[in-house]
Amino acid sequence: MQSGSADPHLADLDLDLEIERLKKERNAVILAHYYQESEIQDVADIVGDSLQLAQAAQKTEADVILFAGVHFMAETAKILNPERVVLVPDMAAGCSLADGCPADRLRAWQARYPGSVTISYINCSAEVKAESDYICTSSNAKTIVNAIPADKQILFAPDKNLGRYLIKETGRDMVLWQGSCIVHETFSARKLIALKIENPDAKIIAHPECEEHLLAMADFVGSTSALLKFAQNDSATTFIIVTEPGILHSMQKLAPGKTLIPAPPEANCACNECPFMRLNTPEKVYLALRDLEPRLEMPEELRLRAKIPMDRMLALS
Ligand code: 13P
Ligand code: SF4
Repeated sequence: MQSGSADPHLADLDLDLEIERLKKERNAVILAHYYQESEIQDVADIVGDSLQLAQAAQKTEADVILFAGVHFMAETAKILNPERVVLVPDMAAGCSLADGCPADRLRAWQARYPGSVTISYINCSAEVKAESDYICTSSNAKTIVNAIPADKQILFAPDKNLGRYLIKETGRDMVLWQGSCIVHETFSARKLIALKIENPDAKIIAHPECEEHLLAMADFVGSTSALLKFAQNDSATTFIIVTEPGILHSMQKLAPGKTLIPAPPEANCACNECPFMRLNTPEKVYLALRDLEPRLEMPEELRLRAKIPMDRMLALS
């Protein structure tokens, strides 16, 4: 891959080769989420969902973890493996769920429900993790909810769509923080119905961050890794994918004979692509490995508090 950069020093570099060279030189591992652009997935050592990447970050013995994902994912890697240098290609790669749930507001909310248990979706800041009793991802959320004693009131933050889906699936009454993912709220029910009419044999598969009326149309609901497995193993040959379209790269590799149709957003835009995930580019991956910057750092006191609910989740996963 040529960089195509405006920077004359980078323009002539073969970024794939340079990234491979730097990985060896730095003893680095690249962890990439399924929503990263295909060029980044192709240079990664591990491509996965947020649970798989957290587990990989915990286990790795590499000196450097380059996290090609968003900020909360890199924080998770640092929480679990503080000895490593954790690099983020672009520090501005946030997440609407994490950004919409500041720790001070979460604390005020928790204070209204004394004696309750807080489960926070991993898409939240380290400060919010530190205030939570359990963390979950979309892969293990049902298991975590089911592990809480029946007499306990559960507060679930920050994704109301995942929370509502979990209430339906587990039968547990939970109080929901009113946050959402800007990407999963852009999908158009009207266009999804039109696609299904055009492709009557296609199965609709959706991430639980989608709104309730979209999930109601889905044949299967699951985390990114569960959607991949479903497309790979199900007998249908055509799937309409209602999540960030970066996943299609890995899905097409795992399910080569299948037709994969990304669900469209309501407007004529690319707003079904996560703007935060897409801040990362192969060029920024290269620069981060070259300069060992930007680096994710975290106060030890915060890390230790945030690790407690993470460890509880990993023990149950
Ligand atoms: P997964 O846990 O399915 O990887 O989802 C992460 C995410 O950010 C979805 O928007
Ligand atoms: Fe956050 Fe949504 Fe982007 Fe996932 S897709 S990182 S939940 S903004």
